[in-house]
Amino acid sequence: MRVLVIGSGAREHALLLALRRDPEVDVLAVAPGNAGTAAIADQHDVDITSGDAVVALARQIDADLVVIGPEVPLVLGVADAVRAAGIACFGPSKDAARIEGSKAFGKEVMDAAGVRTARSEVVDNPAHLDAALDRFGPAVGDPAWVVKDDGLAAGKGVVVTADRDAARAHAASLLDTGHPVLLESYLDGPEVSLFCIVDGETVVPLLPAQDFKRVGDNDTGPNTGGMGAYSPLPWLPDEVVTEITEKVVKPVAAEMVKRDSSFCGLLYAGLAITSRGPAVVEFNCRFGDPETQAVLALLQTPLGQLLYAAAIGDLAGEPPLQWDDGAAVTVVLAAENYPGRPRVGDVITGSEADGVLHAGTTRRDDGAIVSSGGRVLSVVGTGADLAAARDAAYRVIESIRLPGSHFRSDIGLAAAEGRITL
Ligand code: GLY
Repeated sequence: MRVLVIGSGAREHALLLALRRDPEVDVLAVAPGNAGTAAIADQHDVDITSGDAVVALARQIDADLVVIGPEVPLVLGVADAVRAAGIACFGPSKDAARIEGSKAFGKEVMDAAGVRTARSEVVDNPAHLDAALDRFGPAVGDPAWVVKDDGLAAGKGVVVTADRDAARAHAASLLDTGHPVLLESYLDGPEVSLFCIVDGETVVPLLPAQDFKRVGDNDTGPNTGGMGAYSPLPWLPDEVVTEITEKVVKPVAAEMVKRDSSFCGLLYAGLAITSRGPAVVEFNCRFGDPETQAVLALLQTPLGQLLYAAAIGDLAGEPPLQWDDGAAVTVVLAAENYPGRPRVGDVITGSEADGVLHAGTTRRDDGAIVSSGGRVLSVVGTGADLAAARDAAYRVIESIRLPGSHFRSDIGLAAAEGRITL
């Protein structure tokens, strides 16, 4: 099988590594890729937001399967173009990708599917902002305001704060730049990311993971695209994963089919496990980053065959997934100043070690690998348990040198110490 992966992050590096383990996959290509993926796949520099450009590349390399990693090409309809060209594609249509592209659409689908989620309101007129803020936050019993960009914002458009002025300032800055704002009630409880391979109404959950969105240890500082993750979750009973699959993801997949927006690809449920049970924080239309790096490190089932089956509508015929025992931890190495404007162009040393996945990296003409983005590398450690996986990841990340870089030191720590309870 000849597989083309679209994207350039550590998530795509993880997808390529897992695809490479599949004996049926004999050719791997990536567009545009990064300095790390260049070592394992043919690299092509095309505009991945253009359906025409992706189809032309898929035809040029005679791809049997195109796997689209990031949300932006999905929301723009690149998967539709690939399918229209008669090539199997793992990734939802533009219509179905609205589950992530428009938070308001996601809420509408969840309401229709009877799925518990946060109370929410969209504000698109600055004159209505103050009254709307008064319907959320501590005055009505919520510990904090949750203020989101209603469009795509790579995780960084979210502010969670008990300070009304900070909530107002973030909402006003979004409205000033023409972005509608989504206000939500705060969902208390540990968060879970459950990725499901979906083809129409068939839903196959992967191992659950947890990610760490704040930039600093102990969940301090601003939100990021994700600073680390671990999988599986020792504190989450299997029955809760079954409950999420049956009562959240399957009804949403069925609702999408009912709306003629059938979902084919990776449906990512982000949930909080509240005292009243699981409640959805958001749905995304693609593999999450950095959870994918941990989840796929444990997958034994050949990934190419699995994604191809979903892409051709044959997922129901696939055998149950097989996983390694043990645990995996991802720790993200971020550039100085991330999640603000990152410092770039610095030489990285030590990034060739096992378990290092690249994201914001490029190879300079002189051969040096230099930073070119905010999240620069993901380091994945595996082990018999979470503590061993953490040790493995931190041993490697501490050996990497990048001036000004930073990483969280507490990824998976509370879970490894048994401090997360339901
Ligand atoms: N892990 C957060 C995201 O992928 O959006």
